[in-house]
Amino acid sequence: MAFSKDFLWGAATASYQVEGAYNEDGRVMTIWDILSKGKIRNDDDGKVACDHYHKYKEDVALFKKLGFKAYRFSLSWARILSDEKTINPKGIEFYNNLINELIANGIEPLVTLYHWDLPMWAYNRGGWKNPEIVDWFATYTKVAVEAFSDRVKYWITFNEPQCFVGIGYVQGTQAPFEKIGDDELENVTTNVMLAHGKAVKTIRAYAKQPVKVGFAPTCSCIVPKTNNKEDVEFARQATFTPDGYDAFNAGWWSDAIVLGKVQKGMEFLNKVDINDICQPLDFYAYNIYNSANQGSEKYDWHKKPGMKKNALEWEIIPEVIYWSAKFLYERYNLPIIVTENGIANVDFVMSDGKVHDPQRIDFIKTYLTQLKKANDEGVPIIGYLHWSAMDNLEWSIGYLARFGLIYVDFTTLERTPKDSAYYYKQVIESNGENLDFNYGLK
Ligand code: BGC
Repeated sequence: MAFSKDFLWGAATASYQVEGAYNEDGRVMTIWDILSKGKIRNDDDGKVACDHYHKYKEDVALFKKLGFKAYRFSLSWARILSDEKTINPKGIEFYNNLINELIANGIEPLVTLYHWDLPMWAYNRGGWKNPEIVDWFATYTKVAVEAFSDRVKYWITFNEPQCFVGIGYVQGTQAPFEKIGDDELENVTTNVMLAHGKAVKTIRAYAKQPVKVGFAPTCSCIVPKTNNKEDVEFARQATFTPDGYDAFNAGWWSDAIVLGKVQKGMEFLNKVDINDICQPLDFYAYNIYNSANQGSEKYDWHKKPGMKKNALEWEIIPEVIYWSAKFLYERYNLPIIVTENGIANVDFVMSDGKVHDPQRIDFIKTYLTQLKKANDEGVPIIGYLHWSAMDNLEWSIGYLARFGLIYVDFTTLERTPKDSAYYYKQVIESNGENLDFNYGLK
């Protein structure tokens, strides 16, 4: 079965990773500006990043040239509101300009409300630990929806709660770099879930046209050892059943948010009304890179010396996108959008002035082949947004990891589409039918 004719082909970015202009036009500080000092590899920071804030027109022109039909980006809460309730007109203006530019170029905007750049004013009042954040987030959502929903149809509340909670608050290697215990994890989880639920209600209440709403967790998918029924069932259970306080597990977030179901071990959610968390969603968006098999004693059956890995040593197992799409659709029964998928690669401008990245082409080809298989088997996949549109600040790893289809020279800020971008353009032109084009020849 072919991908649907209005399939959302494109790529994604996030505000802190690309925008720069960190102190311009009334933007206030975020936890990434302030708390990451000394914690990002090479002392990199997001002060300039890709300077997308000033170069958005050039970027959108490139997206159009590369055939993107959709662009997923996140709004910076700190650009839109300078405190709990004061609107920053310049921040609204920037996103209005970006959205208008996308639409003028025939590119569908998908907006993420929160991709990890919590404003410092909110952090200083307890951040995700303070239940009041549910209302602060709703206020921000209302402002954004009132400003942009006449043109923006696709709304995503949170990007990967697994990571900003699991890495930011449990492992402590991303902002706000904290290591909380189980009680605090229960509290933070509850606040994030309630903020999601209230944001969904707010989006629907204030939207200026019929909108589609979802959230974008990552999928900690366990790939089955074999295709035997028992192995598949075992992997499915492991994918959705948290083993203790495991905020990375897919079921930890999605069972409550999508199904209104309180998982065993998550009875702390019974303190609140589950209907304030579980609001009807229109799609299930998720980000997928590698499997959760890697590094786990119980599930690491792919491991072998010299296996395919990306530049960050994440295992490359294309089947993970097939199994995750299948598992997620079977369990949550919503149309699927892959909101991130990509590869960190060792890319550089070569002596011929081009960026040849055959690894990324092969990655896209093999992952899309698997996604197509899920689509062929009846999983309604409605979009694929590659991570990332352009190289950007990879959080604590700084500018080392390049995930972009477009190469960015972080000294001159010059953009160079990589071979993979031209390959992907051809894939889009064929609506994903033909994945076998000559690599990068243009
Ligand atoms: C995040 C992105 C990040 C990417 C690659 C996802 O976890 O949403 O912000 O850059 O993965 O690590």
